[in-house]
Amino acid sequence: MEPLESIDGGRFDAVFDEAQRARALRALEAGQVLYFSHLAFALTEDERRFLSPGCADGRSKNISYDPQAGILKGTVLTGDERARLQAMVARFAQGARVLVEGLFPRYTPHLAMGRTSYRPIEAKGRASSYRKDDSRLHVDAFPSRPSGGRRILRVFSNVNPEGRGREWRLGEPFEVCARRFLPGIRPPLPGQRWLLKACGITSGYRSDYDHYMLALHNAMKADEHFQRHCPQYEVTFPAGTTWMAFTDQVSHAAMAGQYLLEQTFHVSVQDLARPEGAPLSVLERLLGRPLAGARG
Ligand SMILES: [Fe+2]
Repeated sequence: MEPLESIDGGRFDAVFDEAQRARALRALEAGQVLYFSHLAFALTEDERRFLSPGCADGRSKNISYDPQAGILKGTVLTGDERARLQAMVARFAQGARVLVEGLFPRYTPHLAMGRTSYRPIEAKGRASSYRKDDSRLHVDAFPSRPSGGRRILRVFSNVNPEGRGREWRLGEPFEVCARRFLPGIRPPLPGQRWLLKACGITSGYRSDYDHYMLALHNAMKADEHFQRHCPQYEVTFPAGTTWMAFTDQVSHAAMAGQYLLEQTFHVSVQDLARPEGAPLSVLERLLGRPLAGARG
């Protein structure tokens, strides 16, 4: 399987025909990265002032925006400047939504918007611990925000003004990774879920699915031999391009690059064309039991 599937379309509100939508859907759910080589998120002349790491507050690695609440975090900017940065990030969030809805109308009924992030800091050499080191191959799983089985779909645009690419590595298919690491992962302890929620560590009950996804994320990042020797591709997403993937499924590592916008969506498994390919279904099949409920 090729790691990238190229999709034509130079606008976030491009109209895709039936054949394009079917090809994109098949590729996305199979674990390919959809690559839009002509789709740039254009900044206005005024917004180019935000192309500086000085916009970030230095404590968090990203500037993040909650499109539902309209709240921007992680920036030192205040007043009018802050409002204009927020407007830029919100415009990207809206563009990403229009793109996803245009390509995947079947996801629209239950499509939930997660955070938008703006990453003005260089990705290389940023990690503080191996678990936070996104330059190691991993699948996405959030320790504090349980998904309960919903998919993580992310749209990325490289807005680097100096023409620098965003360098990624892409690894093996999800099932190959899961088969490699599952034997070493312990099942959740009874009562652990309740305790995590009661102590405020998680914002909801961590399902067994979240337990295994987080353990898989950590086990992949911890295994140096795997990181170096597993079959993998290096890809560079040039400045002025956009790409999207189910990052809970695609093994990926961000090696270098600066100035990126990213929008997270949650897609319910029931809306997939092939639910059997979802990480939830693969893990349930390999473990021989249901994982999505918040039991215990
Ligand atoms: Fe990631």
